[in-house]
Amino acid sequence: MSSKIPKISASEITPEHIYLNRRKFMKGIGSLALGTVALSACASMPAVPSAPASEAVAVEGPPPVAGAETDELGDPLNTFEEITNYNNYYEFSVDKQAVAGLARDLPVSPWSVTVGGLVNNPGVYDVDDLKRMFDIEERIYRLRCVEAWSMVIPWLGFPLHKLLAVVEPQSEARYVRFETAYLPEVMPGLRSRFYEWPYTEGLRLDEAMNDLAILSTGLYGKDMLPQNGAPIRLVVPWKYGFKSIKSIVKIDLVAEQPTSLWMAAAGNEYGFYANVNPEVNHPRWSQASERRIGESARRATLMFNGYEEQVAYLYEGMDLRANY
Ligand code: MTE
Repeated sequence: MSSKIPKISASEITPEHIYLNRRKFMKGIGSLALGTVALSACASMPAVPSAPASEAVAVEGPPPVAGAETDELGDPLNTFEEITNYNNYYEFSVDKQAVAGLARDLPVSPWSVTVGGLVNNPGVYDVDDLKRMFDIEERIYRLRCVEAWSMVIPWLGFPLHKLLAVVEPQSEARYVRFETAYLPEVMPGLRSRFYEWPYTEGLRLDEAMNDLAILSTGLYGKDMLPQNGAPIRLVVPWKYGFKSIKSIVKIDLVAEQPTSLWMAAAGNEYGFYANVNPEVNHPRWSQASERRIGESARRATLMFNGYEEQVAYLYEGMDLRANY
């Protein structure tokens, strides 16, 4: 390996480059040589997901409130501090505990989301208008990261299908493609040339129509903070967390399956479907168990993250190993 590669700390090292194809590898090395360490991913398997840093971002405004203390399985909610100080948001940093501080200046208002593509009623929606158009509900969901940690989060938001009903997908529309804001002035992580920015994700249209899929504008009774994807993000609780794209500016209905940022970066590890599945391992680690942030013992991973009853129909007859 080139001697030009700077020494990087243990917390930044990931073995991902071993698995990348040569072109990506050389690109990645380029950004390492430039001093930008961005080769981990939803790809680094943290040995021990640590508790949030002691200098956690302080709670501002009214105290965090949630409508229940547990999810429907009886598991306690993670704390507001945990949820807002242990984040994956690569546009800011690959260091989960640095994201909250670095994302503070994300300009979240005004913010508009452009909805178009194969729809009868394309439109540009201000997030404040979306909040007025649809009832904001609380949804307490488990978030399971592909890295094998998880949290229970009381999101605020509205089902994605309500917005889709307004724009009216045309008959040729089969997928929904989502795009995050691209703001190099405030997002230092965009300097990493390893990823094909902006962050993009996709769902099959019938997945997007499932009532569990929400556009979330807040959590714990408060507006979304930048580190969690303010002002509006997707939450798809039966899929690995990387599908739940943050700070959305664009939603397009399309005919072909979109290529997500993670598929482009390492398609052999991150597929389009990314359904939580204890029986389909990541090429580099088991998905059979996970660690809930705040707990020390591992717990069994649940099929479709515990939402099997609501979503299994979407995948009837599909080979979930081939469609990972
Ligand atoms: N969206 C964007 N735009 N950029 C990201 O890096 N990370 C994803 C997802 N959405 C990510 C993103 C991953 S890997 C996870 S696990 C979740 O956001 C984490 O959400 P949280 O920080 O609110 O817990």
